[in-house]
Amino acid sequence: MNPEKPDRNLAIEIVRVTEAAALAAARWQGRGAKEDGDQAAVDAMRQVLETIEMDGTVIIGEGEKDEAPMLFNGESVGTGSLPKVDIAVDPIDGTRLLAEGRPGAITVMAAAPAGTMFDPGPCVYMEKIVVGAEAKGEVDLDAPLTENLAAVAKAKGKELRDLTVMMLDRDRHEDAKRQVRETGARLQLITDGDVAGAILAAWEDRPEVDVMYGIGGTPEGVIAACAVKALDGEHLGRLWTRNDEERGRALDAGYDLDQILTADDLVSGEDAFFACTGITSSQLLRGVDFHSNGATTQSLVMRSKSGTVRFIEARHRFSKLRQYSSIAY
Ligand code: FBP
Repeated sequence: MNPEKPDRNLAIEIVRVTEAAALAAARWQGRGAKEDGDQAAVDAMRQVLETIEMDGTVIIGEGEKDEAPMLFNGESVGTGSLPKVDIAVDPIDGTRLLAEGRPGAITVMAAAPAGTMFDPGPCVYMEKIVVGAEAKGEVDLDAPLTENLAAVAKAKGKELRDLTVMMLDRDRHEDAKRQVRETGARLQLITDGDVAGAILAAWEDRPEVDVMYGIGGTPEGVIAACAVKALDGEHLGRLWTRNDEERGRALDAGYDLDQILTADDLVSGEDAFFACTGITSSQLLRGVDFHSNGATTQSLVMRSKSGTVRFIEARHRFSKLRQYSSIAY
């Protein structure tokens, strides 16, 4: 082994992007304006992204699903100097949560060496199962959910009735809900936000969620895979199409709809960087709190190579920032 000196951890810089996006988006809490909140987050993200020393290409610029404002796929971000990296952003995971003033909206970004991120092309949805390190290797998307839950319970030394399964509350999950109930496991339904769900399931320090299962966004899957790798958990995905037209487009573009994609398929290599910041408070993170002269944010910052996970609490002082920053705090 050839020991390396500690090197740059890009995640510590990209957290400034997610913080800025969260601060901008938080002003839109409960205002019923999904697109405006998203636009505010995208604009703030772009301004901080420009300052980061990197030659980034946006591979996942979330927004196509609902034609939201976005950082476009293929867009160059950063100063243009090395390192060359792939970028994935989800300016708001939970745009509806934010617009309706509900808990759980976060802003998310990931980066990884150029050429290592899975490009989902026209594939909008993915079936996903996420577990933590103890249950790694025990789940299989080809197996019934009941069997997967039994295997996770065994691996974790828990009774099945003590297992908690998080799932997006969607009609397409009726059979999956039935299977969870059949095992006696506890079901936690969420209205939106499966990136946070994946983190909670993969993170062994957070025992409240053991499994995240369901069909959710493919961009969210790629981003979550970066965090799950840092947490040493398992994230399996399989592209899922809504109709024949979508299926045809995916097949024409060369996607294998039967393939089970591991976290390594979604982001290969060992140096993925991830950061997310709470916008509205949730099980995972506190949201933005405004004070008389600024705001506080709470973020999670991770790197897969080292497996280091940091909580960053920041106090932002608007009277100072407003004196020089181009971001409208
Ligand atoms: P957006 O905020 O981008 O709309 O994503 C919210 C979300 O709940 C994701 O967390 C999830 O992956 C996806 O939407 C599920 O899609 P849908 O709402 O179409 O079922």
